Amino acid sequence: MLRRFTIMGKFGVLVLLALAVTLMLSLPGSTYTSKYSLRALAQKRGIGFGTAVWVEPLSNDSRYRTVLAQEFNMVTPENEMKFEPTHPERDRYDFTAADTLIDFAKTHNMQVRGHTLVWHESLPDWLTEQTWTREELMSILEQHINTVVGHYRGQLVAWDVVNEAIANNKNALRDTIWLRTIGPEYIEKAFRWAYAADPQARLFYNDYGGEEVGGKSEAIYGMIKDLLQQGVPIHGVGLQMHVSIKNPPNPEKVAANIKRLNDLGLEVQITEMDVKTWDGRGTKQQRLVAQARVYRNMMQVCLEAENCKAFSLWGVSDRYSWIPRIFKKPDAPLIFDDAGRPKPAYNALKEVLKRR
Ligand code: XIL
Repeated sequence: MLRRFTIMGKFGVLVLLALAVTLMLSLPGSTYTSKYSLRALAQKRGIGFGTAVWVEPLSNDSRYRTVLAQEFNMVTPENEMKFEPTHPERDRYDFTAADTLIDFAKTHNMQVRGHTLVWHESLPDWLTEQTWTREELMSILEQHINTVVGHYRGQLVAWDVVNEAIANNKNALRDTIWLRTIGPEYIEKAFRWAYAADPQARLFYNDYGGEEVGGKSEAIYGMIKDLLQQGVPIHGVGLQMHVSIKNPPNPEKVAANIKRLNDLGLEVQITEMDVKTWDGRGTKQQRLVAQARVYRNMMQVCLEAENCKAFSLWGVSDRYSWIPRIFKKPDAPLIFDDAGRPKPAYNALKEVLKRR
């Protein structure tokens, strides 16, 4: 009788505990994180662990909010700080969506990366549908950077100042409205204007396809080296890391690239990692295991590099990934599945963060 009572008692305590944890996790504004969460483990290893965030699920999906607050300590607005949403008309700025995200980040003790000031995409019609003189476009860009960076002055840890300025497959700048109208100086000017508007934020050049030594990263490296020689305030390079299990990045080549940037005195952040699986071989489960390996390898490279200070994913869960929408293939590129449950890649990241 007594024994049965004790078992019931233990069971009851377990149920109560489970209820308490569920309640803690679902409370709005709760900052509960387990010491085994990815954010806690990453913090212990001295790096930030981030993700791109979208205001829509942030406002409507409680599971999304819970996973975000529990597992990440850094956020990047996926679209909300880009040119079009923040500057929809020539004389009008709109920070509503991005501010919602900043509030969430503050409540949950997360760092925010600003993304992005100068890019060839997400440009409003008022900007692209007119022909500008060099002076006009320079003054538009200066004012844009001044206003947007100024609005968040002191609140962001980093800004992706210039995004994807190098062309694919050739050692040259990408042909954009900025290059055509202002000339190559638009890059150094953008960094100088950003620095003037917020001297505390770390200023990044961010790009994809330049993760390994060789190929596109040669052009990125050359450009950044030149900028530094001219005294341009640039503190780091963002490696986007949109990769796939079919052609996974080579860890040694990525490490060598991060190392040579370190030799220039630059920080590196993995800024937008996701791993496509649709074109890989094997069953779904085998592809998820291959995906986990890619995440693990890249985290390992980051942990081993003294200048790699943050590791961000491009989305919380597969359900909200940009990949299926943009590449028109069903896919599962992130570390939480459609229902927000951890995938093999989640466990792989944990394992490598715990390893010494
Ligand atoms: C993507 C967003 O994820 C999509 O929602 C949007 O439709 C297009 O832009 N490199 C970048 C990001 O620097 O800003 C891009 O984000 C993905 C590629």
